[in-house]
Amino acid sequence: MAQAHCVQVDPAFVQAPEHRPKAAISDADGVPLVDLSPLFSDSAGDTIPATLLSQVEVASRDWGFFQVINHGVPLEVLKKAEAAEKKFFALPEEEKLKVRRDEANRFGYYESEHTKNVRDWKRIFDFVLQERLDVTGLVLKNRWPEVPLDFRESIEEYAKCVEKLAFIVLELISLTLNLPPKRLNAFFEEQTTFVRLNHYPPCPYPDLALGVGHHKDSGALTVLYQDSVGGLDVKRQSDGEWVRVKPIPNSFVINVGDIIQVWSNDKYLSAEHRVSVNTERDRFSIPFFFNPASNIDVRPLPELVDDRNPGKYKEYNWGEFFKRRMDSDFKKLEVENIQIDHFKRA
Ligand code: OGA
Ligand code: NI
Repeated sequence: MAQAHCVQVDPAFVQAPEHRPKAAISDADGVPLVDLSPLFSDSAGDTIPATLLSQVEVASRDWGFFQVINHGVPLEVLKKAEAAEKKFFALPEEEKLKVRRDEANRFGYYESEHTKNVRDWKRIFDFVLQERLDVTGLVLKNRWPEVPLDFRESIEEYAKCVEKLAFIVLELISLTLNLPPKRLNAFFEEQTTFVRLNHYPPCPYPDLALGVGHHKDSGALTVLYQDSVGGLDVKRQSDGEWVRVKPIPNSFVINVGDIIQVWSNDKYLSAEHRVSVNTERDRFSIPFFFNPASNIDVRPLPELVDDRNPGKYKEYNWGEFFKRRMDSDFKKLEVENIQIDHFKRA
């Protein structure tokens, strides 16, 4: 990713013409905004306002994406995590490579991610919430850099606070599916959640490359913090246009992942999204990928299917799915990556 005076295009980063970013549509009619303050006000008691639930329901159904404000994650926790992230990525490459992921354990630093076999214009650092050696052969083990000194503490604190928010959103989603609020919580007791720090450096050819190629998130929910630069684009369900998710200071972007799409039997949508890059500014983001335990078999929730509305997916095991996805990061595949569509009933 060296800066060059005359632009040299590395073909590994070049998207097929149909996937190249044209100017994203404006943010008018953009992703819905949900204010979570009623959940934190003293006078609220235990009742959740129907308007809040209906906003979450409509957003999850029509967009699969929404932004939340007044979410309970303290501003100073966000700022510390963002500062730690910037300091880490500013380290010399050889320092970051000391915590590089490898084939045996894919957590840590990585500078060569591919989405659908095209290289992404980004660097990442991944860590899991719960370290564990799994029965499926998943190695969930973290690598921590020695510097910056407060790195681990800052981002673990961030992860703890965002986990609370993820459970809040999970409970709201459960309620909007007419289920008890904690119906889905047990799936996450031995969660395989991981947090990713993303650094998208300026790119000399943002019309050809992407920070992350178009994809859907395969877990249950993603809770993402983005800085003020902008670049996250969502494919709008109503017309298939790419829409920019406008950065709102001190907010989070929530998106429904494939697992909630399957649990809800397609009531809710795991939307396609991507990250556009730009020639001028470094962009930083921190997604929290809220994933269930690896022994969970994913299928439409029995409460939501009946004879008139049969299950639309065959059951699949999350741990196996997750492992195949992670392994594929290391092998350039001729075949398409595993997708939930492969479990869709005809
Ligand atoms: C991802 C992703 C969006 C962003 O990492 O899966 O969609 O804004 N990231 O970094
Ligand atoms: Ni994503």
